[in-house]
Formats: sequence, C-alpha cells, structure tokens
Amino acid sequence: MAEPQVAQKAPYIYKPEKDEKVAWCACGMSKSQPFCDGSHRGSEFRPIVLDVQAGKTCAFCGCKQTGNAPMCDGTHSML
Ligand code: FES
Repeated sequence: MAEPQVAQKAPYIYKPEKDEKVAWCACGMSKSQPFCDGSHRGSEFRPIVLDVQAGKTCAFCGCKQTGNAPMCDGTHSML
C-alpha cells in the first residue's frame, strides 16, 4: 500500500459555522487541506466523508498517519 504524503506535522483545526458534510483528504496531496480537492485521482486513496456540526471544533489529521482517521491522534509528534 502506498504511503500518504505528510501535508503538515500538526492537526488542522476546523470549527464549522454550520452543519455540513466534508471530505477529509487521506492522500495528503490536496491543495485545500485538510479537505479533498480531487488530487487523489489515479491513486489508491479516497477521502473520508463525514458530517460535522456547527460550532464543534474538529482537529483533522494533517500528517495523514493517524490511527483515528480523519481525526488527529498525536501520531505527527513521532514523525
Ligand atoms: S485529494 Fe487527498 S483524498 Fe482527495
């Protein structure tokens, strides 16, 4: 299995202003981190689509190595 690219060695903090559906980038190649921009096309990676709630802060994984995708689990601190 291919390794995802490390987008950044820190989580992306995101606080939605409204309830919405987002697609977290799993490949690390998106230019719109932490969200998918379609750059994974042609790879084995697929985004993780999830619902987020207004006002609820999310810490999305930036290193793409988390064991708790799409959320940060602190793995970036060991890279
Ligand atoms: S651009 Fe990374 S999963 Fe879509």
